[in-house]
Amino acid sequence: MGSFPKQDQVECKEKAEYANVNWDELGFALTKTDYMCIMNFNQDERQFSQGTITRFGNIELCPSSGILNYGQGLFEGLKAYRKEDEGILLFRPEENALRMKIGADRMCMPSPTMEQFLDAVKKTVLANKRWVPPHGRGSLYIRPLLMGTGQNLGVKPASEYTFLVYASPVGNYNKGELNLMVEDKVHRATPGGTGGVKAVTNYSPFYKPLTEAKAEGFSDVLFLDALTGSKIEEGSACNIFILKGNVISTPTADGTILPGITEKASWNLHQVEELAVPIEEVFDAEEVFCTGTAMVVKSVASITYQGKRTEYKMGAETVAQKLHAALTGIQTGVNEDKLGWTMAI
Ligand code: COI
Repeated sequence: MGSFPKQDQVECKEKAEYANVNWDELGFALTKTDYMCIMNFNQDERQFSQGTITRFGNIELCPSSGILNYGQGLFEGLKAYRKEDEGILLFRPEENALRMKIGADRMCMPSPTMEQFLDAVKKTVLANKRWVPPHGRGSLYIRPLLMGTGQNLGVKPASEYTFLVYASPVGNYNKGELNLMVEDKVHRATPGGTGGVKAVTNYSPFYKPLTEAKAEGFSDVLFLDALTGSKIEEGSACNIFILKGNVISTPTADGTILPGITEKASWNLHQVEELAVPIEEVFDAEEVFCTGTAMVVKSVASITYQGKRTEYKMGAETVAQKLHAALTGIQTGVNEDKLGWTMAI
């Protein structure tokens, strides 16, 4: 049975204004913060409990829990940003709540309601306020996890569920250039599979090709569709866009591609066509860029496919840079949020 430290319940008291962190050195790695928020699913009431803030720390799980044995789990990723006036903004947290709900249905799990999701995220951020980096020097990455807990030796949905939210201050996801290698043997997703939701099991199966690509000097892999091996889908943790003339295209999210929240935001800021993108399209693209919560928007310097390397436009005049500036301006409260994407907490 999953059990979590109830005795450590604490109030969300503000501590020192900022934690002792070298903000400019942050990459994308865990910096342990003070608190996390936990909700357990009550089988009798068929709903999650009120979120409880506890000290950040290890959790106890039954060795036969669904998450450990059969990977019944989902995660989300969103960020809190500090404004110039020290206020804190979340970026489109409702979209994460909705995506988790859709994923939970696919994974046969109960999901927290929109209100519970937002409440847990807000409580976690407020309890860890001193870890939200100063304006313009990073963000607090929030990681909601939905897990099948309880004992579960048989192959079936878990007997208990836990929703847990933790957070860590982060800087850039990728330092340096983004040089992609097209992966033509291992596929990230198959039709009818779970590639369109944020299942925890979507990630480690590509560690092998990703590690091999990194050993060859690439920064990420670009996956092709599993049915024909001829259309681009996404990177290991990002969506992809290609620009030709004035047209930006991105592969259709039809169940094998994760519908990205930054990706959708980019469509609103720029006209984008969502369609099947054959691999050949990348050979004569002017610009290619990736989007993701962790990555935000980043230009792709090159794509290598079967030994052929194509390089793309980089720098301040790229659409990617302009989108990055527009988006981070909204996220950090510098640009007016005309679309109502931010939530002040
Ligand atoms: C995110 O951008 O939030 C992601 O999910 C990427 C993560 C796997 C690092």
